[in-house]
Amino acid sequence: MVWLLTVYFPSLVRQMGHLFNRNVLLGVSGGIAAYKSAELVRQLQDRGANVRVIMTRGAQAFITPLTLQALSGNPVHTELLDEQAEQAMGHIELARWADLLLVAPATADVIARLSAGRGDDLLTTVALACPAPLMVAPAMNQQMWKNAGTTTNVAALVGRHAHIVGPAEGKQACGDTGPGRMEEPSAIAEAAANLFQRALLTGKHVVITAGPTREKIDPVRYLSNNSSGKMGYALARAAVEAGAKTTLVSGPVTLTKPEGSHRIDVTSADEMLTVCQRLLPQCDIFIACAAVADYKPASSETRKIKKSAETVELELVRTPDILATISACAKNTFTVGFAAETHDVLAYARDKLARKDLDMVVANDVSDNSVGFNSDHNAATIIWKTGEQSLERATKHVIARKILELIAEQARHAD
Ligand code: PMT
Repeated sequence: MVWLLTVYFPSLVRQMGHLFNRNVLLGVSGGIAAYKSAELVRQLQDRGANVRVIMTRGAQAFITPLTLQALSGNPVHTELLDEQAEQAMGHIELARWADLLLVAPATADVIARLSAGRGDDLLTTVALACPAPLMVAPAMNQQMWKNAGTTTNVAALVGRHAHIVGPAEGKQACGDTGPGRMEEPSAIAEAAANLFQRALLTGKHVVITAGPTREKIDPVRYLSNNSSGKMGYALARAAVEAGAKTTLVSGPVTLTKPEGSHRIDVTSADEMLTVCQRLLPQCDIFIACAAVADYKPASSETRKIKKSAETVELELVRTPDILATISACAKNTFTVGFAAETHDVLAYARDKLARKDLDMVVANDVSDNSVGFNSDHNAATIIWKTGEQSLERATKHVIARKILELIAEQARHAD
């Protein structure tokens, strides 16, 4: 499949990380997200992986071994104490076969048992015997994910160098909303591929602005916008994965700092500029993803403005253009801007590239509510001086990885 794509659709393969000839042992545990493991098998195979599947008892309540056997092209392993199965490929051989043990979905129970080093079923026993890297894609109710027991178990796995992918935030099968949904199969497969790729940005310092800014009107009111910070935080996560020292300059958001990044909190555009200017001398790649307010009140009141007149006039003045200021001072820094537009997206983006003298622009069509502001997804066209590439709708994490791959490629040419 991948070979065919290489011959006929080279640009498509270039967009995907690959797993050529990698043996991925997929552990499926019992959660509603188990049905997504069928798509995950396909995504792994599309990237060139050989896939074998282990299912826990719970997983078999949600999806049949036959389905995953048909998709993976290999018998599915379910029992530790099965004489026949052990004769075909025993648990030790399975553990040795794997280049990667990927547990997806990983329930709170499986995470706890992996963290405790238990060997009470085939999956956990293979995990104990497996020298390959462990990648875990948690999937559970949001309250279970936030539970202190789960937090401790996940931290223990991270401490033993396991790679955690997700969970994603959003509406859950149980009706709750929050973090706990299994990350999309394409994002998990991409994370697996990235594990085997050379860390693209080792030794580089990437600074990313994210989220909105707030421009104060009085002690209780401000001007701001709908940016959630998700795109900037996804970029930070991808930069850490790519081996970069990563600093997030973040406006007010409710997100958790990506593991391995450094976060500096700011509120207004002026504060964001001050921090970015301070970081510039040590910054190799500057990515302006924040939705900076373009205007702020000419003056802000120290006391709450009382309601009296029917109309109020608010005088606004321009905020500093952080990206343009940084770009004008940047000597050895690769500068990347975002262009959030509702119409003539590419034309405005190309204009920004030239006017702000940038190395790259990520053009975002924010007229479509299913991508851009506050969505878990995005779609973009990446434009640089000598080329451009369109990225189809995908999770912000997948888009972030592509953006960083292109930055690494173009920054290398610029060196
Ligand atoms: O945060 P999310 O909810 O995930 O949404 C992501 C996003 C839509 C906010 C993000 O993908 C995005 O498009 N960010 C840029 C939004 C924006 O302000 O675009 P703009 O076209 O107004 O600004 C152009 C560029 O100049 C941007 O890189 C911006 O960071 C920068 N800028 C703008 C104004 C200003 N005063 N200073 C700046 O640095």
